[in-house]
Amino acid sequence: MLVLGIESSCDETAMAVVEDGHRILANCIASQTDLLQQYGGVFPEQASRRHLDICQSLLKETLQQAECTLEDLDLIAVTQGPGLIGSLLVGLNFAKGLAYQSQKPLVGVNHLEAHLYAACMGQAPMLPALGLVISGGHTSCVWIKQIGDYHLIGQTQDDAIGEAFDKVARLLDLPYPGGPEIEKLAKQGDPYRFPFKPAKIKNHPLDFSFSGLKTAVLYTLRQCQEVNEQTRCDLAASFQRAAFQTLAAKIGEALKLFPAQSILLGGGVSHSQTLRCFLHDQFSLPLYWPPAGLSLDNGAMIAGLGALLYQAHPISDLNLQALTRIPFQRTMLTMTCSC
Ligand code: KG4
Ligand code: ZN
Repeated sequence: MLVLGIESSCDETAMAVVEDGHRILANCIASQTDLLQQYGGVFPEQASRRHLDICQSLLKETLQQAECTLEDLDLIAVTQGPGLIGSLLVGLNFAKGLAYQSQKPLVGVNHLEAHLYAACMGQAPMLPALGLVISGGHTSCVWIKQIGDYHLIGQTQDDAIGEAFDKVARLLDLPYPGGPEIEKLAKQGDPYRFPFKPAKIKNHPLDFSFSGLKTAVLYTLRQCQEVNEQTRCDLAASFQRAAFQTLAAKIGEALKLFPAQSILLGGGVSHSQTLRCFLHDQFSLPLYWPPAGLSLDNGAMIAGLGALLYQAHPISDLNLQALTRIPFQRTMLTMTCSC
């Protein structure tokens, strides 16, 4: 089954051709780095205009790289949400036009589920699993009984973890996206110089909070007499340590309630080698993350999950609506786990 995946939920326009849900024939990504650096983050209106400009040429490049034509495809899969409404609408309407013109079926894919599916591409994690979507827009902890059966068990109450990395990076005069820059700077720093602590949330033990940590970095910076290079490195390292300790603490709490066989990571922050090593040291369960090129937003995860969804329910929908929020079913923590 040959599937074209189209992703445009935020600032990346991405398309991929994937065979049988996991074999990647092409994976093309057009980033808006120039706009991001100009505005210090995503500017929604500009982002959707750029998607519009790039869609047609990116499709051509993707099909060329996959050495196939539109006619060869069996399915078109597109991100339906969550995301920025303008950005989603561009990708969705482009996909609808293609599906109509080529008479191919169309399925909508949940971007967050796709981030988790990326960790299953080319490997078969043991299920049930605990899934962590850690990106610039989301921080969610999900109980995955099987692919397609997800229950949200925790989420951020304020900033997403990637957003916190991006904001702290700005405080440290680092360019966007901040995550990789902080990881680099932190390598030269002392992660214990500043005693930043993971936030605890009353009555919601599996929820996350990162805005306090970001503010703690801001106040520490203001109090510093002189912010020399070593202080910047120590701040980056101490912030990164506290952010990753937050994730580890929530995983630890979740494992007490949900008997997972493995831990799945997805989303841009799962790109961090430091995080992968840190969690690997903390937990004895097998830890899975997406293969190279599939941590950040991409079309391959959309095509891969789209294939699975269509096989389970072979229904094409040309009336798909963009959804800025798609709720995971939220399991009440007071309930005993029924697995
Ligand atoms: O999944 P993604 O491409 O977009 C969203 O769906 O949001 O994630 C982008 C986020 C950015 O906030 C970026 O700073 C973060 O992922 N990121 C990282 C690293 N690489 C990317 N955060 C921490 N460490 C990294 N190495
Ligand atoms: Zn994403």
